[in-house]
Amino acid sequence: MVCCCVMRPCLSRANHMNKKIVILGANGQLGRTLQQHFNALDQDVVALGRQDLDIADETALRTTLGDLAPDIIINAAAYTAVDQAETDDLDARAANAAGPKHLARWVKEQNSWLLHISTDFVFSGRSHRPYTPDDQTDPLSIYGRTKLEGELHVRYLARDNSLVLRTSWVYSPYGSNFLKTMLRLMAEKDSLNVVDDQIGTPTSTLGLARCIAAAIDRRPVGILHWTDAGVASWYDFAVAIQDEAIRQGLLEHAIPIKPIPTSAYPTPARRPSFSVLDKADTIAALDCHPQHWQRELAHVMQQFKR
Ligand SMILES: NC(=O)c1ccc[n+]([C@@H]2O[C@H](COP(=O)([O-])OP(=O)(O)OC[C@H]3O[C@@H](n4cnc5c(N)ncnc54)[C@H](OP(=O)(O)O)[C@@H]3O)[C@@H](O)[C@H]2O)c1
Repeated sequence: MVCCCVMRPCLSRANHMNKKIVILGANGQLGRTLQQHFNALDQDVVALGRQDLDIADETALRTTLGDLAPDIIINAAAYTAVDQAETDDLDARAANAAGPKHLARWVKEQNSWLLHISTDFVFSGRSHRPYTPDDQTDPLSIYGRTKLEGELHVRYLARDNSLVLRTSWVYSPYGSNFLKTMLRLMAEKDSLNVVDDQIGTPTSTLGLARCIAAAIDRRPVGILHWTDAGVASWYDFAVAIQDEAIRQGLLEHAIPIKPIPTSAYPTPARRPSFSVLDKADTIAALDCHPQHWQRELAHVMQQFKR
């Protein structure tokens, strides 16, 4: 089976077709994209939202997973409100650290396999080259710290039964994300100011889902990185969103977008100023090749339009 858009970005052997797969965090933007992706492949998955299973509740987790007996668990559940986490660290830690700890214990005991999604926010942003999976972590925020704790539990408790897949700047046609916020503001406002001194890579959940499908075919262990290709500032991303939205008829006219420094837009949580992730190990391990983020953006907007 070849899943591809333009350049055959992921060669997937579909070894997962006879495996039982559970998706956690199924109502989030990645969870919804994964459901759509596997449905299109005619792959049965059990998709559990928070109302079906709170991953921080170990008793419930053991009962639910015990009944389902999955071979593969994809954990897309997380507390993702980065600024809110600064004053809500208990809830952030429950979802981002305790939940992955319970999952890691379970997969180790059952000898199943966990694909756990993590974030570029585990890094400080002081690097001047893309971060490799082995680079030193040093999160700046409560969100980043709780996500790192989750990673460490997974690595420590289920080293041979898990993959931690870090990604960055995730957006999709679903839920709330930078793309949707920009489209709304561009329709409502006369001008926008957007930060231009934070550098990273926008990542479409569509490309991320292709990478995850490739990963569950091979079930590698350790830590890998996945983002779309290329780099951008939030300002670059906003300008590209506006250009593409006009091209696709989602916006009628352009408004001025002004680049500003982070210091002019203070937020409760500090964010890394540079969080580009090195994907070389992932490309080698999964034979999965990222598309440029601008190409993915056009693709997501086409879905958004539909
Ligand atoms: N969004 C980004 O820019 C970004 C960047 C890098 C990495 N990531 C990582 O990518 C993964 C997917 O993120 P996303 O953007 O799809 O997030 P999302 O849209 O916020 O979805 C997360 C889902 O997890 C659920 N959830 C929260 N706490 C839970 C719990 N205790 N038990 C079960 N479910 C729970 C949420 O439910 P409720 O809505 O009901 O709380 C939500 O449906 C996460 O691991 C995130 O850390 C995201």
